[in-house]
Amino acid sequence: MLSFERRGTGVPLVFLHAFPLNHSMWEEQVAFLSKHFQMITMDLPGFGNSPLQKETSTMEDIAKSVLELLVELKVSDKCIFAGLSMGGYVLFQILKLAPEKIRGLAFISTKAGADTEQARDRRFKTIEVVERHGPDPLVDIMRPALLGKTTLATRPDVVSKVEGMIRSEKAPGINAALRGMAARPDSTAILSSIHVPALFLSGTEDTVIPTDEMEANAHLVPQADFRRIEAAGHLLNMEKPDEFNEQFSNFLKRRVL
Ligand code: MLT
Repeated sequence: MLSFERRGTGVPLVFLHAFPLNHSMWEEQVAFLSKHFQMITMDLPGFGNSPLQKETSTMEDIAKSVLELLVELKVSDKCIFAGLSMGGYVLFQILKLAPEKIRGLAFISTKAGADTEQARDRRFKTIEVVERHGPDPLVDIMRPALLGKTTLATRPDVVSKVEGMIRSEKAPGINAALRGMAARPDSTAILSSIHVPALFLSGTEDTVIPTDEMEANAHLVPQADFRRIEAAGHLLNMEKPDEFNEQFSNFLKRRVL
């Protein structure tokens, strides 16, 4: 079973973390949203305290573990799922496996498309580096990808928290997720079949999944709200927690509850 944190009561909000991090990236959201909701965060397979399940963590297998956790926790209400980047790739699989469990969706710094050939090659090179040297070199590879230029220049506290999280992860889990992301299918066709309220949130300084690409995805979803957060990069929930929490709770109030 996945290692999880459950805080608060009421409508369940299930938050799925990015690569190569763990559930603690959602600390500021748990503190804020658990005052009114049941916040469920977890370490995805091979990250944090959750055991690795297979040599490749496919997005579908990760989605199945999330759904199994909800069964273990006896969560029978429909949930609002939020996924950031890799967490968002997993959301597309949850949509395929269990659409009846979804009350609303938040796609954060993520996209429906599969990897390009170039992105796949990059992942395989990273796997070799991590196999040889462990997770440390990933800090330099991921820092400029995960954090926007404003945060890198002005928020050493956020930078060091993200670095610490990356260093604490283990090579087999990291590499299993890299293989799984490289193998993920193109989910663009699913977008037009999403019939629950959906929020798309993007940081204007995100270089991994540019705002324009997310906006194009949002336009394919019948009931989507697209919002951007200025001066934030890929990890906008950690970089601009107050703006993030406000956008997220406004979406819940306006569209879901
Ligand atoms: C993430 O933040 O989960 C990763 O950057 C996603 C990716 O590498 O595609």
